[in-house]
Amino acid sequence: MSNKKVIAVLGATGAQGGGLVRAIMADKSGEFTARALTRDVNSDKAKALKNLGAEVVAYNVDDYESLKSAFQGAYGVFAVTFFWEHFSAEKEIEEAKMIAKAAKEANVKHVIWSTLEDTRKWIPLSDKRMPTLQTKYKVPHFDGKGEAEKYFTDQNLPITFLLTSGYWENMIYFGWGPTRDNDGKLKLNLPLGERKLPGIAVEDIGKSAYAIFKRGNEFIGKKIGIAGGHLTGKQMAESLSKALGEEVIYNAVPFDVYRSFDFPGADDVGNMFQFKHDFEEYYCGARDLKFSKSLNPELKSFDEWLKANASKIPIK
Ligand SMILES: NC(=O)c1ccc[n+]([C@@H]2O[C@H](COP(=O)([O-])OP(=O)(O)OC[C@H]3O[C@@H](n4cnc5c(N)ncnc54)[C@H](OP(=O)(O)O)[C@@H]3O)[C@@H](O)[C@H]2O)c1
Repeated sequence: MSNKKVIAVLGATGAQGGGLVRAIMADKSGEFTARALTRDVNSDKAKALKNLGAEVVAYNVDDYESLKSAFQGAYGVFAVTFFWEHFSAEKEIEEAKMIAKAAKEANVKHVIWSTLEDTRKWIPLSDKRMPTLQTKYKVPHFDGKGEAEKYFTDQNLPITFLLTSGYWENMIYFGWGPTRDNDGKLKLNLPLGERKLPGIAVEDIGKSAYAIFKRGNEFIGKKIGIAGGHLTGKQMAESLSKALGEEVIYNAVPFDVYRSFDFPGADDVGNMFQFKHDFEEYYCGARDLKFSKSLNPELKSFDEWLKANASKIPIK
């Protein structure tokens, strides 16, 4: 029987949680081991985590009893919520509330909550620069997380709030990559104006979370932000041009145009880009690159990420 400290990882078969499980299990002599939480212990992704030596345990964030038993005996909890499964800020807040309650009942010693800002602190609902969505949010997939922070602090949990950045993997899986225009040229169509966008290789979120668990008390009660790079659209296009071996031209899409794009959540994502644009100084400042590198020395830059991933970006 191992006497390692158990970290229960929500969304373990997903991008953030998966990175953390891999980081923990790669450190064979480390003091921690991972309990990978999934709705389906028999999926290929769950089996791959089991093959790394992680304990794989079934739960569903909507089933409080399953959450509580999943946290039993754990030292730590890495919490993510699942906005893009349902697109509802209200539901995401409920998920976070249940996670906080279960973590308290299980008496865990360190919780990391992967969160984002409540943008309404910067852009009140009365601010007409962007539409209000879902009745009372500006950026629902940010605001719900930010609002839910209170459930962790109210419970007096030993908590670290981890402000993440947009994954560069969105270029592979979420349509953020360059597309071929009618003129035959590759265009990077993003609503960034001329401002900088913090981004990160998603595997580095897990590695950073692992570093936070290892440093323990130092980060309990703190809010910290991470990014692998702060890049303008033009800078990203230059890096993409080098990596793809073909010129990519940055095209600054207006926020309203982006909000009207035909994919689910385009209004939410359009508002998000506008928030990051309008509050660039705050937003980049909260995700300091030097700090991120000191926390996780393996942190990848955009160019390094492209070296391994440019060929996976689907060019349409
Ligand atoms: N995309 C970005 O750039 C970005 C940046 C910052 C933050 N985020 C936030 O990251 C969060 C998602 O994390 P991710 O990207 O790591 O997830 P992901 O890769 O999309 O994976 C989703 C995971 O959610 C699990 N899941 C879905 N519904 C569940 C439920 N009812 N109960 C338990 N597990 C459930 C699935 O696991 P099983 O099928 O194995 O159960 C799956 O592995 C979102 O809240 C998003 O807003 C995203």
